[in-house]
Amino acid sequence: MARVAFLGLGVMGYPMAGHLAAKGHDVTVFNRTEAKAKAWCDAHGGTHGDTPKTAAKGNEIVFACVGNDDDLRSVCLGEHGAFAGMEAGTLFVDHTTVSAQVTKELAEAAAERGIAYVDAPVSGGQAGAENGQLVVMCGGAQADYDRAEGVIAAYAKACRRMGEVGAGQLTKMVNQICIAGLLQGLSEGLTLAEKAGLDGEAVIDVIQGGAAGSWQMVNRHKTMLAGEYEHGFAVDWMRKDLAICLAAGEDLGAPLPATALIDQFYKDVQAMGGGRWDTSSLMARLGKLAG
Ligand SMILES: NC(=O)c1ccc[n+]([C@@H]2O[C@H](COP(=O)([O-])OP(=O)(O)OC[C@H]3O[C@@H](n4cnc5c(N)ncnc54)[C@H](OP(=O)(O)O)[C@@H]3O)[C@@H](O)[C@H]2O)c1
Repeated sequence: MARVAFLGLGVMGYPMAGHLAAKGHDVTVFNRTEAKAKAWCDAHGGTHGDTPKTAAKGNEIVFACVGNDDDLRSVCLGEHGAFAGMEAGTLFVDHTTVSAQVTKELAEAAAERGIAYVDAPVSGGQAGAENGQLVVMCGGAQADYDRAEGVIAAYAKACRRMGEVGAGQLTKMVNQICIAGLLQGLSEGLTLAEKAGLDGEAVIDVIQGGAAGSWQMVNRHKTMLAGEYEHGFAVDWMRKDLAICLAAGEDLGAPLPATALIDQFYKDVQAMGGGRWDTSSLMARLGKLAG
């Protein structure tokens, strides 16, 4: 069992930290809004720190799952940041979805203090975090990954090292690019089915076992057909992720024309008031276009 800290008790972090405590790890948490940290301690019996630094102090591994690049910088750096509380030889594991650039920058800042760094973004959403069934894509030195893997197992159904630092975030970008295209296709397919007067449920029942089947098709078609989007992975988060993907595509010379287009479709969904809607709400945009 390890002594660990977990920074960021949001939709994802709260249950992930809970799984660590349930496995018997000694967990200290930090959350910007302290009430959530207190609630977590009441539920799971761990302790909480007032700052990332105090939470990180004395722990072997420090995990983070916050919002974006700037949020991650703010919990890592500065006099109250986690790195200031961590000793040489300890390990920082980042579960936030962030850019490859900030990952490199923070891994270098960590290395200057002798702290190892593994980027480990996740897929599987709120349900995956709550059920301990996340897919985790990691970047870092093999020895550092090996130290993290057994602890991450508390909330993962799959965890894999993809290469050196940054490789986890690059793999997550591939994941988001694939999801964007899938959801636009699914939205167009279901819209056509509705316009044609087909039974949408029956259509999915037939085609989900064939070549078009996907997690999104199986798990999202019912709510899409019902026009319900108050759940799941928010459009605002998706736009953050697609901006990261498009910047990486530009840097690497990888053309992402459909991703760029679908990012603009998500901008339309935001303008419809759907910033917090699930990413499957691309279908609501088509509904508006169709009138
Ligand atoms: N939700 C999903 O389905 C999903 C799936 C895969 C990956 N992700 C990624 O996982 C990350 C977290 O997502 P989430 O859904 O858990 O988000 P969330 O519910 O909004 O939680 C964000 C957490 O980060 C903290 N935070 C944000 N900015 C901060 C700052 N500047 N300083 C300190 N703490 C800060 C928040 O603290 P407060 O409580 O004080 O606001 C909260 O604990 C994101 O990068 C997201 O893209 C999410």
